[in-house]
Amino acid sequence: MLNAYLALRRVLTVILLSLAFVQSCPITSPLPTIQLPTAEVTTLSVTDFGAIGDGIHYDTRPIQSAINACPSSSSCHVVFPSGGKYLTATIHLRSGVVLVIQEGAVLLGGTRLEDYPEDSSRWYVVLAEQADNVGITGGGEINGQGLKFVERFDDRKNVMVSWNKTGACYGDECRPRLVGFIRCKNVGVWDIKLIQPAYWCLHIVECDITSIHKISILGDFNTPNNDGIDIQDSNNTIITRCNINTGDDAICPKTYNGPLYNLTATDCWIRTKSSAIKLGSASSFDFKGLVFDNISIFESHRGLALQIRDGGKASDITFSNINISTRYYDPSWWGRAEPIYVTTCPRGSGSKAGLISNVRFINVTAVSENGVFLSGTEGGFVRDLKFSNIDLTYRRWTNYSGSLVDYRPGCWGLVSHRMAGIIMENVDGFEVENVRMRWSAVGSCDWDNPLDFRPSTVNNISFVNFFSGLYDMQ
Ligand SMILES: *[C@@H]1O[C@H](CO)[C@@H](O)[C@H](O)[C@H]1NC(C)=O
Ligand SMILES: *[C@@H]1O[C@H](CO)[C@@H](O)[C@H](O)[C@H]1NC(C)=O
Ligand SMILES: *[C@@H]1O[C@H](CO)[C@@H](O)[C@H](O)[C@H]1NC(C)=O
Ligand SMILES: *[C@@H]1O[C@H](CO)[C@@H](O)[C@H](O)[C@H]1NC(C)=O
Ligand SMILES: *[C@@H]1O[C@H](CO)[C@@H](O)[C@H](O)[C@H]1NC(C)=O
Ligand SMILES: *[C@@H]1O[C@H](CO)[C@@H](O)[C@H](O)[C@H]1NC(C)=O
Ligand SMILES: *[C@@H]1O[C@H](CO)[C@@H](O)[C@H](O)[C@H]1NC(C)=O
Ligand SMILES: *[C@@H]1O[C@H](CO)[C@@H](O)[C@H](O)[C@H]1NC(C)=O
Repeated sequence: MLNAYLALRRVLTVILLSLAFVQSCPITSPLPTIQLPTAEVTTLSVTDFGAIGDGIHYDTRPIQSAINACPSSSSCHVVFPSGGKYLTATIHLRSGVVLVIQEGAVLLGGTRLEDYPEDSSRWYVVLAEQADNVGITGGGEINGQGLKFVERFDDRKNVMVSWNKTGACYGDECRPRLVGFIRCKNVGVWDIKLIQPAYWCLHIVECDITSIHKISILGDFNTPNNDGIDIQDSNNTIITRCNINTGDDAICPKTYNGPLYNLTATDCWIRTKSSAIKLGSASSFDFKGLVFDNISIFESHRGLALQIRDGGKASDITFSNINISTRYYDPSWWGRAEPIYVTTCPRGSGSKAGLISNVRFINVTAVSENGVFLSGTEGGFVRDLKFSNIDLTYRRWTNYSGSLVDYRPGCWGLVSHRMAGIIMENVDGFEVENVRMRWSAVGSCDWDNPLDFRPSTVNNISFVNFFSGLYDMQ
């Protein structure tokens, strides 16, 4: 069943190790079973098909020819030898094909509109569509040359080119993504560097059984929509040992056309100018069975976020063993330094309110410039939340102004409000156990309430071992 795994003899040990780790986790989610390799593997090198690898001439044809030459009956490694820079237009993977981009090799995405298919929903440097047992590995790099898509550099937020001439996409969101798997089964993305995407980086759409392991993503900190991993309408996804440093949301489950079940992300390091982990904002269908464990979040604009805006229901979600530091950045980016952000407001007048229930935060430490924001709506309560062993330190150190709550996108936008340790509205069922909240006397003149119940309904809350106070008296 799992031929992609079978094909990848060289990384199998790593995969087994990673799965062993996930399995040893106290909170488990479904795991693909792994068999030992038995299938034949065909290995083809793109240089044998004429690829030059000088980074100047397009190698699209040789690369695609190598992929197309793979026998359909067996697994096939298409190798990009070390030392080459292989410039390419969109390449299309097929079932059974694994790209092996060796350490020291770079697959370089083209920067011209004609390098990408006509349909903007298929603008990727590497695209696998309706393929089974496909993957990318090898220790090398895929580079989208994202900086060449910047029209004007700006420390607040770059202005990007827009390929929107046909009107098929709008605003500045008309740029190619880096790697996409659409309606695939048994996907592996292991041991690879994904650098400078022009738009989103790794996009998993309507897939089943995906393993993402030991990848590092380096985007641009000032580029909008420079997401890390977007998991959309997909089931049974495991992400382990990722390292993501980018401008926009780092790990971002979304639902547009179908639900998302069973996603586990563990052992990751994240820095972003937006949310480190974010459910939404596309959220028309349900999210269920998600686990995020052993994650370090560094100087991000928001830590753990549920940004449900389109009527979907998010439930059975655990965040555990997570260290967070958040800070303010320019308000043109969503996020107001909240370590934890849980919201259901309907995006616009035509949208339904979402629902959130059974979400646990366990063993979380945060140093933040703003407090926790828990905001249900009358039509979409936040139910059955649990905070257990949470240590929150609030300290201001940038010059951005506080005293704003952030309902974006849509809803009520940015709203002035006194800051507080935890702001709650329309919450039903909230267990607080072993929670310590401290804030610095320095720079916190505009906030002093540990808990703020917005003028709205808040029911069934219990506190056991809750502490709050100043941690310094300068
Ligand atoms: C999600 O995981 C559960 C528990 O392992 C499993 O029973 C269920 O079939 C999975 N859901 C999907 C859609 O694969
Ligand atoms: C393309 O995007 C630019 C900049 O955002 C905008 O001014 C223009 O109206 C858009 N054109 C189309 C056809 O969407
Ligand atoms: C995920 O599982 C749900 C529930 O079984 C199903 O409706 C949906 O089609 C599945 N999605 C994919 C991409 O397999
Ligand atoms: C947590 O993740 C880091 C990698 O970010 C890893 O080095 C460490 O071993 C993991 N800890 C546990 C307990 O698995
Ligand atoms: C969080 O910080 C604590 C204390 O510094 C450390 O023991 C723990 O390993 C860290 N966890 C993560 C996920 O970084
Ligand atoms: C939370 O931390 C405690 C103490 O380190 C540990 O015993 C427990 O297993 C952790 N809980 C989870 C869900 O990881
Ligand atoms: C805040 O503003 C002061 C005075 O303008 C400046 O000295 C300081 O470097 C600024 N701090 C930060 C973190 O930008
Ligand atoms: C209050 O919340 C707890 C768990 O947080 C739940 O078990 C209990 O049923 C709730 N009580 C009511 C009256 O809703």
